[in-house]
Amino acid sequence: MSNDCITSTTNPADIKPGMASSYLLTLLQDGQRTDNLQDLLELVLERLAALPWMHLEDRGAIMLRGASGNLIQVAQKGFTEARAEFCTQVSLDRCACGQATRNGQIAFRECLGEATVNALPADKADNHYILPLQDRGKVIGDVVVFVPAGHVPDDAEVCVMHDLATILSNVVAHRLAHEIVGAKELELEQAKAEVIQKLGAASEYRDTETGMHVMRMAHFAASIAKTMGVDADARDRLVIAAPMHDVGKIGIPDNILLKPGRLDSDEFNIMRRHAAIGGQLLKGDDELMRTAREIACSHHEKWDGSGYPNGLAGEDIPLFGRICSVADVFDALTSSRPYKQAWPIDKAIDTIVSESGHAFDPAVVGAFQKSLPEILRIRELYRDEIIDPREKLSLPPLHDDGKAVHIPWESSYGIGIDVVDEHHRYLIRLINDLYAAVTERHGAREIGRVLRALEHYTIIHFREEEKMMEKHDYRKLAPHKIQHEKFCSRVNGLWRELQVNPLTLGHEAIFFLRDWLVTHIQKEDIQLHELTAET
Ligand code: C2E
Ligand code: SIN
Ligand code: SIN
Ligand code: FE
Ligand code: FE
Repeated sequence: MSNDCITSTTNPADIKPGMASSYLLTLLQDGQRTDNLQDLLELVLERLAALPWMHLEDRGAIMLRGASGNLIQVAQKGFTEARAEFCTQVSLDRCACGQATRNGQIAFRECLGEATVNALPADKADNHYILPLQDRGKVIGDVVVFVPAGHVPDDAEVCVMHDLATILSNVVAHRLAHEIVGAKELELEQAKAEVIQKLGAASEYRDTETGMHVMRMAHFAASIAKTMGVDADARDRLVIAAPMHDVGKIGIPDNILLKPGRLDSDEFNIMRRHAAIGGQLLKGDDELMRTAREIACSHHEKWDGSGYPNGLAGEDIPLFGRICSVADVFDALTSSRPYKQAWPIDKAIDTIVSESGHAFDPAVVGAFQKSLPEILRIRELYRDEIIDPREKLSLPPLHDDGKAVHIPWESSYGIGIDVVDEHHRYLIRLINDLYAAVTERHGAREIGRVLRALEHYTIIHFREEEKMMEKHDYRKLAPHKIQHEKFCSRVNGLWRELQVNPLTLGHEAIFFLRDWLVTHIQKEDIQLHELTAET
Protein backbone atom coordinates (compact mmCIF):
# COMPACT_ATOMS: atom_id res chain seq x y z
CA MET A 1 0.00 0.00 0.00
CA SER A 2 1.32 3.49 -0.81
CA ASN A 3 1.02 6.50 1.45
CA ASP A 4 -1.44 8.14 -0.95
CA CYS A 5 -3.99 5.46 -0.28
CA ILE A 6 -4.20 5.99 3.44
CA THR A 7 -7.63 7.20 4.45
CA SER A 8 -9.40 7.52 7.72
CA THR A 9 -10.86 4.07 7.18
CA THR A 10 -7.55 2.30 6.61
CA ASN A 11 -7.10 -0.63 8.97
CA PRO A 12 -4.52 0.46 11.57
CA ALA A 13 -2.86 -2.98 11.28
CA ASP A 14 -1.86 -2.03 7.70
CA ILE A 15 -0.14 1.20 8.77
CA LYS A 16 3.64 0.68 8.89
CA PRO A 17 5.97 3.02 10.84
CA GLY A 18 7.06 4.81 7.64
CA MET A 19 3.48 5.80 6.88
CA ALA A 20 2.81 7.29 10.25
CA SER A 21 2.96 10.91 9.15
CA SER A 22 0.44 10.40 6.36
CA TYR A 23 -1.76 8.54 8.75
CA LEU A 24 -1.57 11.39 11.23
CA LEU A 25 -2.52 13.81 8.48
CA THR A 26 -5.74 11.92 7.91
CA LEU A 27 -6.34 12.40 11.62
CA LEU A 28 -5.81 16.10 11.17
CA GLN A 29 -8.45 16.22 8.48
CA ASP A 30 -10.91 14.28 10.61
CA GLY A 31 -9.93 16.32 13.64
CA GLN A 32 -10.76 19.59 11.89
CA ARG A 33 -14.23 18.28 11.45
CA THR A 34 -14.83 17.51 15.11
CA ASP A 35 -16.08 20.64 16.74
CA ASN A 36 -14.71 20.05 20.21
CA LEU A 37 -11.49 19.00 21.83
CA GLN A 38 -12.92 16.01 23.66
CA ASP A 39 -13.97 14.33 20.41
CA LEU A 40 -10.62 15.20 18.87
CA LEU A 41 -8.71 13.63 21.75
CA GLU A 42 -10.83 10.50 21.67
CA LEU A 43 -10.36 10.15 17.94
CA VAL A 44 -6.59 10.58 18.08
CA LEU A 45 -6.01 8.31 21.07
CA GLU A 46 -8.19 5.57 19.69
CA ARG A 47 -6.43 5.60 16.31
CA LEU A 48 -2.93 5.70 17.76
CA ALA A 49 -3.60 3.04 20.36
CA ALA A 50 -4.70 0.77 17.52
CA LEU A 51 -1.28 0.93 15.80
CA PRO A 52 0.37 -2.35 16.79
CA TRP A 53 3.95 -1.03 16.60
CA MET A 54 3.26 1.92 18.85
CA HIS A 55 2.73 1.14 22.50
CA LEU A 56 0.32 3.81 23.55
CA GLU A 57 -2.62 3.42 25.83
CA ASP A 58 -6.04 4.70 24.86
CA ARG A 59 -5.71 7.26 27.67
CA GLY A 60 -4.68 10.90 27.86
CA ALA A 61 -5.65 14.51 28.31
CA ILE A 62 -5.51 17.93 26.70
CA MET A 63 -4.43 20.73 29.01
CA LEU A 64 -4.61 24.41 28.07
CA ARG A 65 -3.16 27.39 29.81
CA GLY A 66 -5.91 29.44 31.45
CA ALA A 67 -6.09 33.13 32.21
CA SER A 68 -4.58 32.48 35.66
CA GLY A 69 -1.55 30.82 34.02
CA ASN A 70 -2.54 27.38 35.31
CA LEU A 71 -2.96 24.40 33.04
CA ILE A 72 -6.62 23.51 32.84
CA GLN A 73 -7.71 20.09 31.66
CA VAL A 74 -10.23 20.70 28.87
CA ALA A 75 -10.51 17.11 27.63
CA GLN A 76 -9.56 13.71 29.01
CA LYS A 77 -10.01 10.07 28.18
CA GLY A 78 -9.66 7.07 30.47
CA PHE A 79 -8.97 8.91 33.69
CA THR A 80 -10.45 7.73 36.93
CA GLU A 81 -12.85 10.21 38.49
CA ALA A 82 -10.29 11.14 41.11
CA ARG A 83 -7.65 11.94 38.57
CA ALA A 84 -10.00 13.88 36.33
CA GLU A 85 -10.93 16.11 39.23
CA PHE A 86 -7.34 16.54 40.31
CA CYS A 87 -5.87 17.29 36.93
CA THR A 88 -8.41 19.91 36.16
CA GLN A 89 -6.16 22.57 37.61
CA VAL A 90 -2.43 22.16 37.91
CA SER A 91 -0.02 24.86 38.88
CA LEU A 92 2.65 25.18 36.20
CA ASP A 93 5.43 25.42 38.71
CA ARG A 94 4.58 22.24 40.53
CA CYS A 95 4.19 19.96 37.57
CA ALA A 96 6.23 18.18 34.93
CA CYS A 97 3.68 19.14 32.30
CA GLY A 98 4.40 22.70 33.23
CA GLN A 99 8.10 22.29 32.54
CA ALA A 100 7.47 20.77 29.12
CA THR A 101 5.02 23.53 28.42
CA ARG A 102 7.56 26.18 29.26
CA ASN A 103 10.34 24.98 27.01
CA GLY A 104 8.17 23.68 24.19
CA GLN A 105 9.94 20.28 24.06
CA ILE A 106 8.35 16.87 24.00
CA ALA A 107 8.90 15.16 27.31
CA PHE A 108 8.65 11.59 28.46
CA ARG A 109 7.94 11.20 32.14
CA GLU A 110 7.84 8.29 34.47
CA CYS A 111 5.03 9.89 36.38
CA LEU A 112 2.92 13.00 36.36
CA GLY A 113 5.39 14.98 38.42
CA GLU A 114 5.67 15.65 42.08
CA ALA A 115 2.26 17.16 42.63
CA THR A 116 0.45 14.24 41.09
CA VAL A 117 2.52 11.59 42.77
CA ASN A 118 1.55 13.05 46.07
CA ALA A 119 -2.09 13.07 45.15
CA LEU A 120 -2.34 9.60 43.63
CA PRO A 121 -1.54 6.09 44.80
CA ALA A 122 1.91 5.03 43.51
CA ASP A 123 0.53 2.47 41.03
CA LYS A 124 -1.46 5.20 39.29
CA ALA A 125 1.63 7.25 38.49
CA ASP A 126 1.98 5.95 34.93
CA ASN A 127 4.51 6.76 32.24
CA HIS A 128 3.41 9.25 29.68
CA TYR A 129 4.44 11.61 26.90
CA ILE A 130 3.86 15.32 27.22
CA LEU A 131 3.43 17.02 23.85
CA PRO A 132 3.49 20.82 23.90
CA LEU A 133 0.72 22.58 21.99
CA GLN A 134 1.87 25.71 20.20
CA ASP A 135 0.12 28.52 18.43
CA ARG A 136 2.38 30.75 16.31
CA GLY A 137 5.41 29.93 18.40
CA LYS A 138 3.68 30.37 21.74
CA VAL A 139 3.02 27.35 23.97
CA ILE A 140 -0.69 27.30 24.78
CA GLY A 141 -0.90 23.96 26.55
CA ASP A 142 -0.03 20.30 26.20
CA VAL A 143 -1.33 16.85 25.45
CA VAL A 144 -0.63 13.96 27.81
CA VAL A 145 -0.52 10.47 26.25
CA PHE A 146 -0.04 7.42 28.47
CA VAL A 147 2.09 4.34 27.76
CA PRO A 148 2.19 1.06 29.69
CA ALA A 149 4.35 0.83 32.80
CA GLY A 150 7.99 -0.03 32.01
CA HIS A 151 7.66 1.15 28.40
CA VAL A 152 10.87 2.54 26.89
CA PRO A 153 10.37 5.02 24.04
CA ASP A 154 12.23 4.37 20.76
CA ASP A 155 13.25 6.82 18.03
CA ALA A 156 10.43 5.90 15.65
CA GLU A 157 7.86 6.51 18.33
CA VAL A 158 9.36 9.83 19.41
CA CYS A 159 9.38 10.89 15.75
CA VAL A 160 5.66 10.15 15.50
CA MET A 161 5.10 12.10 18.70
CA HIS A 162 6.76 15.14 17.12
CA ASP A 163 4.42 14.97 14.14
CA LEU A 164 1.49 14.44 16.44
CA ALA A 165 2.40 17.52 18.49
CA THR A 166 2.48 19.64 15.32
CA ILE A 167 -0.79 18.30 14.06
CA LEU A 168 -2.64 18.68 17.35
CA SER A 169 -1.24 22.19 17.75
CA ASN A 170 -2.79 23.10 14.42
CA VAL A 171 -6.19 21.69 15.26
CA VAL A 172 -6.29 23.21 18.74
CA ALA A 173 -5.14 26.63 17.51
CA HIS A 174 -7.81 26.50 14.83
CA ARG A 175 -10.43 25.57 17.39
CA LEU A 176 -9.31 28.36 19.69
CA ALA A 177 -9.57 30.93 16.91
CA HIS A 178 -13.06 29.69 16.11
CA GLU A 179 -14.19 30.01 19.73
CA ILE A 180 -12.74 33.51 20.00
CA VAL A 181 -14.85 34.54 17.01
CA GLY A 182 -17.93 33.04 18.70
CA ALA A 183 -17.20 34.93 21.92
CA LYS A 184 -16.70 38.20 20.02
CA GLU A 185 -19.97 37.80 18.18
CA LEU A 186 -21.75 37.24 21.45
CA GLU A 187 -20.16 40.37 22.88
CA LEU A 188 -21.50 42.45 19.99
CA GLU A 189 -24.96 40.96 20.37
CA GLN A 190 -24.89 41.72 24.07
CA ALA A 191 -23.99 45.32 23.44
CA LYS A 192 -27.03 45.67 21.20
CA ALA A 193 -29.18 43.78 23.70
CA GLU A 194 -28.24 46.18 26.47
CA VAL A 195 -29.43 49.18 24.51
CA ILE A 196 -32.70 47.42 23.83
CA GLN A 197 -33.12 46.38 27.44
CA LYS A 198 -32.58 49.90 28.73
CA LEU A 199 -35.38 51.07 26.49
CA GLY A 200 -37.64 48.31 27.80
CA ALA A 201 -36.96 49.26 31.38
CA ALA A 202 -37.53 52.95 30.60
CA SER A 203 -40.94 52.14 29.15
CA GLU A 204 -41.97 50.31 32.26
CA TYR A 205 -40.78 52.66 34.97
CA ARG A 206 -43.63 54.96 34.08
CA ASP A 207 -46.54 52.67 34.88
CA THR A 208 -45.09 50.26 37.44
CA GLU A 209 -42.58 50.92 40.15
CA THR A 210 -39.79 48.41 39.87
CA GLY A 211 -39.18 47.26 36.33
CA MET A 212 -39.64 43.65 37.42
CA HIS A 213 -42.82 43.09 35.41
CA VAL A 214 -41.06 43.07 32.07
CA MET A 215 -38.40 40.70 33.41
CA ARG A 216 -40.94 38.27 34.82
CA MET A 217 -42.92 38.42 31.62
CA ALA A 218 -39.82 37.82 29.47
CA HIS A 219 -38.72 34.84 31.56
CA PHE A 220 -42.23 33.35 31.67
CA ALA A 221 -42.22 33.62 27.89
CA ALA A 222 -38.80 31.96 27.63
CA SER A 223 -39.94 29.14 29.91
CA ILE A 224 -43.04 28.50 27.79
CA ALA A 225 -40.92 28.69 24.62
CA LYS A 226 -38.51 26.12 26.03
CA THR A 227 -41.35 23.73 26.80
CA MET A 228 -42.53 24.22 23.20
CA GLY A 229 -39.10 23.21 21.90
CA VAL A 230 -37.89 26.64 20.74
CA ASP A 231 -34.07 26.53 20.44
CA ALA A 232 -31.69 28.38 22.74
CA ASP A 233 -30.67 31.11 20.27
CA ALA A 234 -34.28 32.03 19.56
CA ARG A 235 -35.11 31.95 23.28
CA ASP A 236 -32.22 34.32 23.86
CA ARG A 237 -33.72 36.77 21.40
CA LEU A 238 -37.09 36.32 23.06
CA VAL A 239 -35.76 37.18 26.53
CA ILE A 240 -34.07 40.30 25.19
CA ALA A 241 -36.91 41.43 22.95
CA ALA A 242 -39.96 40.63 25.13
CA PRO A 243 -39.28 43.42 27.68
CA MET A 244 -39.88 45.86 24.82
CA HIS A 245 -43.46 44.70 24.26
CA ASP A 246 -44.96 47.84 25.78
CA VAL A 247 -42.53 50.53 24.59
CA GLY A 248 -45.47 52.00 22.74
CA LYS A 249 -46.93 53.05 26.10
CA ILE A 250 -44.54 55.99 26.05
CA GLY A 251 -46.94 57.43 23.45
CA ILE A 252 -49.96 57.16 25.80
CA PRO A 253 -50.85 60.17 28.00
CA ASP A 254 -50.43 59.80 31.76
CA ASN A 255 -54.09 60.52 32.51
CA ILE A 256 -54.95 57.32 30.65
CA LEU A 257 -51.96 55.12 31.42
CA LEU A 258 -51.99 55.92 35.15
CA LYS A 259 -55.75 56.21 35.60
CA PRO A 260 -56.64 54.62 38.92
CA GLY A 261 -60.00 53.30 37.67
CA ARG A 262 -61.40 51.48 34.63
CA LEU A 263 -60.85 53.06 31.22
CA ASP A 264 -63.92 54.15 29.27
CA SER A 265 -64.16 53.04 25.68
CA ASP A 266 -62.58 56.21 24.21
CA GLU A 267 -59.70 55.94 26.62
CA PHE A 268 -59.25 52.28 25.87
CA ASN A 269 -59.19 52.99 22.14
CA ILE A 270 -56.29 55.34 22.77
CA MET A 271 -54.63 52.80 25.06
CA ARG A 272 -54.83 50.16 22.35
CA ARG A 273 -52.60 52.26 20.12
CA HIS A 274 -49.59 51.29 22.23
CA ALA A 275 -49.15 48.06 20.26
CA ALA A 276 -48.89 49.78 16.88
CA ILE A 277 -46.81 52.65 18.29
CA GLY A 278 -44.37 50.08 19.68
CA GLY A 279 -44.05 48.52 16.25
CA GLN A 280 -43.24 51.91 14.74
CA LEU A 281 -40.64 52.72 17.39
CA LEU A 282 -38.77 49.47 16.93
CA LYS A 283 -37.08 50.07 13.61
CA GLY A 284 -34.17 48.02 12.37
CA ASP A 285 -33.55 44.99 10.24
CA ASP A 286 -31.51 42.68 12.41
CA GLU A 287 -33.13 39.64 13.93
CA LEU A 288 -33.31 41.05 17.41
CA MET A 289 -35.13 44.20 16.31
CA ARG A 290 -37.43 42.21 14.09
CA THR A 291 -38.30 39.95 17.01
CA ALA A 292 -38.93 42.95 19.29
CA ARG A 293 -41.13 44.61 16.66
CA GLU A 294 -43.08 41.42 16.08
CA ILE A 295 -43.78 41.01 19.81
CA ALA A 296 -44.75 44.66 20.34
CA CYS A 297 -47.17 44.50 17.41
CA SER A 298 -48.76 41.17 18.21
CA HIS A 299 -48.87 40.69 22.00
CA HIS A 300 -52.52 41.81 22.16
CA GLU A 301 -53.73 39.78 19.20
CA LYS A 302 -56.08 36.95 20.18
CA TRP A 303 -56.26 33.41 18.85
CA ASP A 304 -59.95 33.84 17.85
CA GLY A 305 -59.22 37.07 15.92
CA SER A 306 -60.80 39.46 18.45
CA GLY A 307 -57.57 41.18 19.50
CA TYR A 308 -55.73 44.32 18.34
CA PRO A 309 -54.17 46.09 16.47
CA ASN A 310 -54.75 43.93 13.37
CA GLY A 311 -57.34 41.34 14.40
CA LEU A 312 -55.05 38.48 13.36
CA ALA A 313 -56.17 34.94 14.22
CA GLY A 314 -54.57 31.56 14.83
CA GLU A 315 -51.12 30.94 13.46
CA ASP A 316 -51.21 34.21 11.54
CA ILE A 317 -50.18 35.65 14.89
CA PRO A 318 -46.39 35.19 15.21
CA LEU A 319 -45.48 32.45 17.72
CA PHE A 320 -43.63 34.84 20.03
CA GLY A 321 -46.66 37.14 20.06
CA ARG A 322 -48.88 34.21 21.10
CA ILE A 323 -46.41 33.22 23.81
CA CYS A 324 -45.92 36.77 25.11
CA SER A 325 -49.66 37.30 25.27
CA VAL A 326 -50.07 34.46 27.80
CA ALA A 327 -46.96 35.55 29.72
CA ASP A 328 -48.10 39.19 29.83
CA VAL A 329 -51.67 38.50 30.90
CA PHE A 330 -50.61 36.00 33.59
CA ASP A 331 -48.29 38.57 35.09
CA ALA A 332 -50.79 41.44 34.71
CA LEU A 333 -53.46 39.38 36.49
CA THR A 334 -51.22 38.34 39.38
CA SER A 335 -49.79 41.84 39.88
CA SER A 336 -51.44 44.96 41.20
CA ARG A 337 -51.96 47.81 38.73
CA PRO A 338 -53.11 51.41 39.22
CA TYR A 339 -56.56 50.14 38.20
CA LYS A 340 -56.75 46.74 39.93
CA GLN A 341 -55.65 44.48 42.78
CA ALA A 342 -53.50 41.41 42.18
CA TRP A 343 -55.50 38.23 41.67
CA PRO A 344 -54.80 34.99 43.55
CA ILE A 345 -52.56 32.73 41.45
CA ASP A 346 -55.09 29.92 41.10
CA LYS A 347 -57.73 32.29 39.78
CA ALA A 348 -55.25 33.69 37.25
CA ILE A 349 -54.28 30.19 36.09
CA ASP A 350 -57.97 29.23 35.73
CA THR A 351 -58.56 32.34 33.63
CA ILE A 352 -55.64 31.57 31.31
CA VAL A 353 -56.82 27.96 30.91
CA SER A 354 -60.43 29.00 30.28
CA GLU A 355 -59.23 31.35 27.52
CA SER A 356 -57.46 28.51 25.69
CA GLY A 357 -58.79 28.52 22.14
CA HIS A 358 -60.41 31.95 22.67
CA ALA A 359 -57.80 34.57 23.58
CA PHE A 360 -54.89 32.13 23.58
CA ASP A 361 -53.31 29.45 21.42
CA PRO A 362 -54.16 26.08 23.07
CA ALA A 363 -50.60 24.84 22.44
CA VAL A 364 -49.18 27.84 24.31
CA VAL A 365 -51.62 27.36 27.19
CA GLY A 366 -50.62 23.67 27.39
CA ALA A 367 -46.95 24.65 27.55
CA PHE A 368 -47.78 27.32 30.14
CA GLN A 369 -49.37 24.66 32.36
CA LYS A 370 -46.39 22.35 31.98
CA SER A 371 -44.01 25.20 32.77
CA LEU A 372 -45.86 26.32 35.90
CA PRO A 373 -43.31 25.02 38.43
CA GLU A 374 -40.69 27.16 36.73
CA ILE A 375 -43.01 30.11 36.15
CA LEU A 376 -43.96 30.23 39.83
CA ARG A 377 -40.26 30.29 40.73
CA ILE A 378 -39.62 33.11 38.28
CA ARG A 379 -42.31 35.10 40.13
CA GLU A 380 -40.28 34.73 43.32
CA LEU A 381 -36.97 35.48 41.62
CA TYR A 382 -38.24 38.76 40.15
CA ARG A 383 -40.68 39.92 42.79
CA ASP A 384 -41.88 43.50 43.26
CA GLU A 385 -42.05 43.53 47.05
CA ILE A 386 -39.08 43.62 49.39
CA ILE A 387 -38.33 40.10 50.63
CA ASP A 388 -40.09 39.23 53.88
CA PRO A 389 -37.61 37.03 55.80
CA ARG A 390 -40.42 35.13 57.47
CA GLU A 391 -42.45 34.35 54.39
CA LYS A 392 -42.79 30.61 53.70
CA LEU A 393 -43.03 29.42 50.11
CA SER A 394 -44.62 26.25 48.86
CA LEU A 395 -43.71 25.74 45.24
CA PRO A 396 -44.46 22.66 43.12
CA PRO A 397 -41.38 20.46 42.54
CA LEU A 398 -39.31 21.18 39.43
CA HIS A 399 -38.98 18.28 37.04
CA ASP A 400 -35.45 17.14 36.45
CA ASP A 401 -34.20 18.28 33.06
CA GLY A 402 -31.60 15.51 32.91
CA LYS A 403 -28.58 17.84 32.84
CA ALA A 404 -25.32 16.92 34.54
CA VAL A 405 -25.47 18.27 38.08
CA HIS A 406 -22.10 19.32 39.40
CA ILE A 407 -23.21 21.00 42.62
CA PRO A 408 -26.31 19.40 44.05
CA TRP A 409 -28.28 21.57 46.48
CA GLU A 410 -27.25 20.71 50.03
CA SER A 411 -29.44 21.33 53.03
CA SER A 412 -26.56 23.28 54.59
CA TYR A 413 -27.03 25.94 51.87
CA GLY A 414 -30.45 26.79 53.29
CA ILE A 415 -30.37 29.94 55.42
CA GLY A 416 -33.98 29.63 56.59
CA ILE A 417 -35.33 32.51 54.49
CA ASP A 418 -37.39 30.81 51.81
CA VAL A 419 -37.27 33.48 49.10
CA VAL A 420 -33.50 33.94 49.49
CA ASP A 421 -33.01 30.16 49.43
CA GLU A 422 -34.95 30.10 46.18
CA HIS A 423 -32.64 32.80 44.76
CA HIS A 424 -29.60 30.80 45.84
CA ARG A 425 -31.02 27.61 44.33
CA TYR A 426 -31.37 29.43 41.06
CA LEU A 427 -27.81 30.76 41.18
CA ILE A 428 -26.55 27.24 41.79
CA ARG A 429 -28.68 26.03 38.92
CA LEU A 430 -26.99 28.61 36.69
CA ILE A 431 -23.56 27.40 37.81
CA ASN A 432 -24.71 23.88 36.98
CA ASP A 433 -25.84 25.12 33.57
CA LEU A 434 -22.35 26.50 33.11
CA TYR A 435 -20.94 23.12 34.09
CA ALA A 436 -23.21 21.43 31.54
CA ALA A 437 -22.18 23.94 28.85
CA VAL A 438 -18.53 23.15 29.52
CA THR A 439 -18.72 19.38 29.97
CA GLU A 440 -21.18 18.88 27.13
CA ARG A 441 -18.88 21.13 25.10
CA HIS A 442 -21.41 23.61 23.83
CA GLY A 443 -18.62 26.07 23.07
CA ALA A 444 -17.77 29.63 23.98
CA ARG A 445 -21.06 31.14 22.88
CA GLU A 446 -23.09 28.94 25.19
CA ILE A 447 -20.66 29.50 28.04
CA GLY A 448 -20.95 33.25 27.44
CA ARG A 449 -24.72 33.01 27.40
CA VAL A 450 -24.81 31.29 30.79
CA LEU A 451 -22.22 33.66 32.25
CA ARG A 452 -24.32 36.60 31.13
CA ALA A 453 -27.44 35.12 32.70
CA LEU A 454 -25.49 34.55 35.88
CA GLU A 455 -24.17 38.08 35.91
CA HIS A 456 -27.64 39.54 35.36
CA TYR A 457 -29.27 37.47 38.02
CA THR A 458 -26.51 37.98 40.56
CA ILE A 459 -27.07 41.72 40.30
CA ILE A 460 -30.80 41.33 40.87
CA HIS A 461 -30.33 38.89 43.73
CA PHE A 462 -27.82 41.08 45.53
CA ARG A 463 -30.05 44.12 45.11
CA GLU A 464 -33.05 42.28 46.58
CA GLU A 465 -31.01 40.80 49.43
CA GLU A 466 -29.60 44.24 50.23
CA LYS A 467 -33.05 45.85 50.16
CA MET A 468 -34.21 43.27 52.68
CA MET A 469 -31.16 43.90 54.89
CA GLU A 470 -31.72 47.66 54.71
CA LYS A 471 -35.37 47.42 55.60
CA HIS A 472 -34.53 45.33 58.65
CA ASP A 473 -31.55 47.47 59.71
CA TYR A 474 -29.17 44.55 59.39
CA ARG A 475 -26.06 45.56 61.29
CA LYS A 476 -23.53 44.01 58.87
CA LEU A 477 -25.05 45.52 55.75
CA ALA A 478 -21.97 47.52 54.75
CA PRO A 479 -19.38 44.70 54.78
CA HIS A 480 -21.90 42.35 53.16
CA LYS A 481 -22.44 44.85 50.35
CA ILE A 482 -18.70 45.07 49.77
CA GLN A 483 -18.55 41.31 49.29
CA HIS A 484 -21.35 41.52 46.77
CA GLU A 485 -19.55 44.25 44.86
CA LYS A 486 -16.33 42.29 44.73
CA PHE A 487 -18.14 39.27 43.38
CA CYS A 488 -19.87 41.32 40.69
CA SER A 489 -16.63 42.74 39.43
CA ARG A 490 -15.05 39.26 39.39
CA VAL A 491 -17.96 37.85 37.39
CA ASN A 492 -17.68 40.75 35.00
CA GLY A 493 -13.98 39.92 34.71
CA LEU A 494 -14.82 36.32 33.77
CA TRP A 495 -16.91 37.64 30.96
CA ARG A 496 -13.96 39.66 29.68
CA GLU A 497 -11.61 36.68 30.04
CA LEU A 498 -13.96 34.66 27.88
CA GLN A 499 -12.93 36.87 24.97
CA VAL A 500 -9.30 35.83 25.46
CA ASN A 501 -9.42 32.26 26.77
CA PRO A 502 -12.68 30.76 25.54
CA LEU A 503 -11.51 27.15 25.81
CA THR A 504 -10.34 27.23 29.40
CA LEU A 505 -12.52 29.89 30.95
CA GLY A 506 -15.52 27.70 31.68
CA HIS A 507 -13.52 25.34 33.84
CA GLU A 508 -11.92 28.07 35.89
CA ALA A 509 -15.18 29.92 36.25
CA ILE A 510 -17.00 26.90 37.64
CA PHE A 511 -14.45 26.42 40.42
CA PHE A 512 -14.40 30.08 41.29
CA LEU A 513 -18.17 30.54 41.25
CA ARG A 514 -18.91 27.37 43.17
CA ASP A 515 -16.36 28.15 45.87
CA TRP A 516 -17.37 31.77 46.23
CA LEU A 517 -21.10 31.20 46.30
CA VAL A 518 -21.06 28.25 48.69
CA THR A 519 -18.67 30.03 51.06
CA HIS A 520 -20.67 33.25 50.92
CA ILE A 521 -23.94 31.47 51.64
CA GLN A 522 -22.50 29.41 54.46
CA LYS A 523 -20.48 32.16 56.11
CA GLU A 524 -22.32 35.43 55.39
CA ASP A 525 -25.86 34.84 54.24
CA ILE A 526 -26.46 32.30 57.00
CA GLN A 527 -26.22 35.18 59.47
CA LEU A 528 -29.27 36.78 57.85
CA HIS A 529 -31.26 34.13 59.67
CA GLU A 530 -31.37 36.50 62.60
CA LEU A 531 -33.80 38.66 60.59
CA THR A 532 -36.46 35.97 60.93
CA ALA A 533 -36.36 36.27 64.72
CA GLU A 534 -37.08 39.97 64.71
CA THR A 535 -40.48 41.05 66.03
P1 C2E B 1 -51.64 45.55 31.63
O1 C2E B 1 -52.22 46.13 32.88
O2 C2E B 1 -50.25 45.13 31.72
O3 C2E B 1 -52.51 44.31 31.19
C1 C2E B 1 -52.14 43.48 30.13
C2 C2E B 1 -53.25 42.59 29.73
O4 C2E B 1 -53.56 41.72 30.83
C3 C2E B 1 -54.55 43.30 29.42
O5 C2E B 1 -54.55 43.72 28.09
C4 C2E B 1 -55.58 42.20 29.66
O6 C2E B 1 -55.58 41.30 28.58
C5 C2E B 1 -54.96 41.47 30.85
N1 C2E B 1 -55.54 42.00 32.10
C6 C2E B 1 -54.96 42.87 32.95
N2 C2E B 1 -55.78 43.11 34.01
C7 C2E B 1 -56.88 42.39 33.82
C8 C2E B 1 -58.10 42.19 34.57
O7 C2E B 1 -58.30 42.76 35.64
N3 C2E B 1 -59.03 41.35 34.04
C9 C2E B 1 -58.84 40.70 32.86
N4 C2E B 1 -59.76 39.87 32.40
N5 C2E B 1 -57.69 40.86 32.12
C10 C2E B 1 -56.74 41.69 32.60
P2 C2E B 1 -55.53 44.92 27.64
O8 C2E B 1 -56.88 44.74 28.25
O9 C2E B 1 -55.45 45.01 26.17
O10 C2E B 1 -54.91 46.18 28.31
C11 C2E B 1 -53.68 46.72 27.86
C12 C2E B 1 -53.16 47.75 28.81
O11 C2E B 1 -54.13 48.79 28.92
C13 C2E B 1 -53.00 47.25 30.25
O12 C2E B 1 -51.79 46.61 30.45
C14 C2E B 1 -53.10 48.56 31.00
O13 C2E B 1 -51.88 49.28 30.93
C15 C2E B 1 -54.14 49.30 30.24
N6 C2E B 1 -55.49 49.07 30.81
C16 C2E B 1 -56.39 48.14 30.45
N7 C2E B 1 -57.53 48.27 31.17
C17 C2E B 1 -57.34 49.33 31.99
C18 C2E B 1 -58.18 49.98 32.99
O14 C2E B 1 -59.33 49.62 33.24
N8 C2E B 1 -57.62 51.05 33.63
C19 C2E B 1 -56.37 51.47 33.36
N9 C2E B 1 -55.90 52.52 34.06
N10 C2E B 1 -55.57 50.89 32.45
C20 C2E B 1 -56.05 49.83 31.77
C1 SIN C 1 -47.58 45.54 30.65
O1 SIN C 1 -46.90 44.66 30.17
O2 SIN C 1 -47.24 46.28 31.60
C2 SIN C 1 -48.89 45.82 30.06
C3 SIN C 1 -49.43 44.87 29.16
C4 SIN C 1 -49.81 45.33 27.85
O3 SIN C 1 -50.36 46.36 27.56
O4 SIN C 1 -49.47 44.49 27.10
C1 SIN D 1 -13.70 21.71 24.31
O1 SIN D 1 -13.93 22.13 23.17
O2 SIN D 1 -13.53 20.51 24.59
C2 SIN D 1 -13.62 22.68 25.42
C3 SIN D 1 -14.97 23.14 25.80
C4 SIN D 1 -15.09 24.60 25.62
O3 SIN D 1 -14.60 25.33 26.50
O4 SIN D 1 -15.69 25.04 24.63
FE1 FE E 1 -49.35 45.75 25.92
FE1 FE F 1 -25.26 37.79 50.20
